[in-house]
Amino acid sequence: MNHAKIIGTGSYLPKTILTNKDLESRLDTTDEWIVSRTGIKERHIAGPDEKTSDLSYEAALGAIASANISPSDIDLIILATTTPDKIFPSTACTVQARLGIKECPAFDVQAVCTGFVYALTIAEKFIKTNSAKNVLVIGADRMSSITDYDDRSNAILWGDGAGAVILSASNEVGIISTHIHASGNYEELLHVPRHDKASHIADTIEMKGNQVFKIAVNTLDRIVDETLENSGITKSEIDWLVPHQANIRILEATAKKLDMSMDKVIVTIDRHGNTSAASIPLALDEGVRSGKIIKNQIILMEAFGGGFTWGSALVKY
Ligand code: COA
Repeated sequence: MNHAKIIGTGSYLPKTILTNKDLESRLDTTDEWIVSRTGIKERHIAGPDEKTSDLSYEAALGAIASANISPSDIDLIILATTTPDKIFPSTACTVQARLGIKECPAFDVQAVCTGFVYALTIAEKFIKTNSAKNVLVIGADRMSSITDYDDRSNAILWGDGAGAVILSASNEVGIISTHIHASGNYEELLHVPRHDKASHIADTIEMKGNQVFKIAVNTLDRIVDETLENSGITKSEIDWLVPHQANIRILEATAKKLDMSMDKVIVTIDRHGNTSAASIPLALDEGVRSGKIIKNQIILMEAFGGGFTWGSALVKY
């Protein structure tokens, strides 16, 4: 039982939808600009009382049900988020309490848009060292809580949501390889600065989008090479690309690098926007539930985000 396999997926999106038309009415932007520059048409926005733990809990229920296990079978919770409910306790602990799971370790991981890949990587290490058998891995973000809706270059991008998987010890190959990196040298290009409370300035995302875009495309190019070289898997063996959804043009660049047609890419950005740590597990769950992704297929997940952080996970589903 020394492999780590995804045995269940789940996801949750808040009910309220913010369309490009809605944004047109309050910002100097157009649906045409947003769709052509990002691929986004709409995004889901959490209600005022809907916290990251609420989104996570719903996604977790879906993953637990599809894995056909009960919450008490879970012996570790890792939750990737940049928008925790509170400074402490971790949102993972809040989710653990809501699920009624007793005393299993639970912690948050903060790697912004790469958070889910980081969490999955850590979960695999716990399983491979016999330290856990059933890990609940969640990616959840409430990006609307750190978005400046007066800043047209940011307001259009972000959405809220959560996705989850159950990663379990298995005799069958599941995760083939994981690769994670960080470089803290680019902080000023993408960050949420902390302002003094007395300044009354909200802590919201600041991004030099164009510069981030170029570095993201080049870095994802390199992580694809690294993943293929280390795993011994060829481009043609990959059935699905399940990428972090930041910009359709970034997705297209990665698909091109893989010699893959876009119909082999799970695309959710048009309806979800960029949901940060949630975007990969949301896309994975959609791919599975729609019947596109089926057992034993090879999936490449990759992400790039604030930090900068980046990474990939190659998985036999
Ligand atoms: N509507 C209309 N015009 C807009 C706009 C909007 N919502 N937002 C920006 N613009 C304008 C800019 O002001 C600029 O105008 P100017 O030429 O008169 O100065 C022009 O559009 C081009 O801006 P630029 O920032 O160069 O656009 P872009 O093509 O790079 O697209 C992003 C902007 C943010 C969509 C794109 O850079 C991006 O997706 N970046 C990477 C995001 C990412 O990967 N993040 C990290 C991982 S989460």
